Amino acid sequence: MQPHELVDLENGLIAREIFFSETLYRQELERIFARSWLFLGHVSQIPERHDFFTNYMGEDPVVVLRDEGGRVRVFLNSCPHRGMRLCRLDSGNAARFTCSFHGWTFSSEGALVGVPFFKEAYHEALDRDAWGLAECPLVATYGGLIFACWDTQAGSLDDYLGDIRWYLDIVLERVRHFEVIPGLQRYTLDANWKIAAENFTGDTYHVPFSHGSVFQLEARTQNPVNWSTGHTLHTVRFEGGHGMTGIEMTGARYDTDLAIAATMGAEVVEYVEEGQRRLTERLGARQAKIYNIGFGNVFPNFSINSFSAFGPIGLYLWHPRGAGTLESWGWCAFDRDAPQVMKDHMRIDFARNQAAAGVIAQDDTENFEQVTQSSRGVIGRRRPFNYQMGLGRETAHAMPGYPGQYLDYYSEAGQRGFYDRWAQLMEMAS
Ligand code: FES
Ligand code: FE
Repeated sequence: MQPHELVDLENGLIAREIFFSETLYRQELERIFARSWLFLGHVSQIPERHDFFTNYMGEDPVVVLRDEGGRVRVFLNSCPHRGMRLCRLDSGNAARFTCSFHGWTFSSEGALVGVPFFKEAYHEALDRDAWGLAECPLVATYGGLIFACWDTQAGSLDDYLGDIRWYLDIVLERVRHFEVIPGLQRYTLDANWKIAAENFTGDTYHVPFSHGSVFQLEARTQNPVNWSTGHTLHTVRFEGGHGMTGIEMTGARYDTDLAIAATMGAEVVEYVEEGQRRLTERLGARQAKIYNIGFGNVFPNFSINSFSAFGPIGLYLWHPRGAGTLESWGWCAFDRDAPQVMKDHMRIDFARNQAAAGVIAQDDTENFEQVTQSSRGVIGRRRPFNYQMGLGRETAHAMPGYPGQYLDYYSEAGQRGFYDRWAQLMEMAS
């Protein structure tokens, strides 16, 4: 079956096969992950020359580094000689990378600068210039967020992100001096990567139910959102398969934050007020009216969440590891210049809610795994998933002056947009 037959957007039906087929999965790696701009990290993670961190683009390991001249570059983290993982650390600082298999050594520009027994073993015949590291041709940043793409035909990062940039600007401006807290939450799930990515694209529907116990327990008493009514919240989808939800306008939310701030001291009140002033000054009243963005996904697998001035910025990657396996990566970021009491609050909030053992993450990961386990049988795979929520109501909420398509708060139009993009790319032959 062709991708567009598996993804029937007119009727809101998606074949379960797309979450289980190893054939489709191999195509996804080539047609989606090797063609899309993929998030890798933030420039604040590599502030100095020769700083590096490792990550993945699809299943390809990469090392992201700042070279001799200070430029951010991305190399395939696989030795050209026999494929050994060249850099085996999560992060660090190194002017040279020496392969632990046979000892080939590479500069921060990716050049092969050292070959053991060059004379004795290669008789000086090896063309060292031809055997440097494979370099990702497109690397760009947006507000310090580093993205890369292997496809030189892909167009610019700005075009790729499109209207979602307008909302990322709000998050980035609020954070001001973006600092990713060292340490990465990384764990493997028995689930297809799309199950997690589409959830962040706009699945507001699961929040009051799946996370209901969290709200009942008041685990987030300092961070309340009226998820059940959702009337102050918005869901938006964008061209390109991106989506965001839990967008909340200034008003009650800001007042709540100020009340929380008052319990933490004058410095915190001033910080919250100053943040709102700065946002208005720098971005204008229309953008500043958006007080916070709940969660969203940049197609294909980069998700973000941010709840109020007291919520940390969560950054997530849903790395594909086979049709039925994903590796979840999550970082927490905040404003380096925020009052210490707020930073402590945010770090704890992330650990309590979104980290591997966090109460919110556990709800979600249990869903993702159980969806997978109970859908892969013979009979289960014959039945499509239902994405009919809000069919025909995609243009019901005009928001003049606000980029993107505003949807019903509870709507699956964002997920339909995600799968529309998926099908388009899957149908474009390599
Ligand atoms: Fe790296 Fe041989 S695999 S030097
Ligand atoms: Fe959730």
